[in-house]
Amino acid sequence: MLKDKVAVVTGASRGIGKSISLALARQGAKIVAVDITLKGMDELLAEIKALGSEGVAVEGNVTVTADTEKMIDEAVRAFGRVDILVNNAGITRDGLLIRMKDEDWDAVLTVNLKGAFLCTRAASKVMTKQRFGRIINIASVVGQMGNAGQANYCASKAGLMGLTRSNARELAKRNITVNAVAPGFIISDMTEALPEKVRQDMAAQIPLERFGTADDIANAVVFLATDASGYITGQVLAVNGGMYM
Ligand code: NAI
Repeated sequence: MLKDKVAVVTGASRGIGKSISLALARQGAKIVAVDITLKGMDELLAEIKALGSEGVAVEGNVTVTADTEKMIDEAVRAFGRVDILVNNAGITRDGLLIRMKDEDWDAVLTVNLKGAFLCTRAASKVMTKQRFGRIINIASVVGQMGNAGQANYCASKAGLMGLTRSNARELAKRNITVNAVAPGFIISDMTEALPEKVRQDMAAQIPLERFGTADDIANAVVFLATDASGYITGQVLAVNGGMYM
């Protein structure tokens, strides 16, 4: 489905970004896996190869303009084009509002929101010339409904949804679609570490009565990357088990 397509995925070395990279590779896409650390990248590239596709790893920080330009240059050098950009890199620095430090606000907004802006700006130069592109931003259910203790994170993810809509309007005439996926509670190292009771209480808020998996998110990203979604732009696809409607 994505044969001959080239996908740049940020925060690809582990977690949801890794699952997204593998799901895109499974459909035939060539993967440019970007992360601030190269830890885990050898394994990812081996898995991509085992799926019959190709990949390269790029060490880069999405908050550094030169790095975002480098990752797009590397993609073009390795595979000749950039069709898909997945802005997945993200961090949390949780804390109650009155105790939240300036640095915690700045760090989260800079990685989660400015990082997506910088990567999109770099990729859209190439996509504009190609007159084709699929940009997918990984937001969060808490950017839609809020969450106590996550003012910085919720603001960054709500901002990402605004960025999605603005970029969708601006880039549509070049045949570039821009959409977001808003995951709900996803099984991850973070949620696995929570006490059983807390996890049960969280699951009780979800109509489908379970946490999502990284593959649930990756499947939504694949859909937004393929021709099947060619008439969809500026949307937020909620993948949250019905937790927020
Ligand atoms: P994770 O912490 O396992 O992975 C994030 C990756 O981003 C890491 O590999 C990290 O090294 C990389 N990264 C961090 N800062 C970076 C930077 N400045 N430049 C380049 N790479 C950087 O996180 P996870 O759980 O896989 O989340 C992925 C995305 O999904 C994030 O945007 C997160 O906000 C979002 N999300 C996650 C949910 C969950 O339950 N895990 C729920 C909703 C959204």
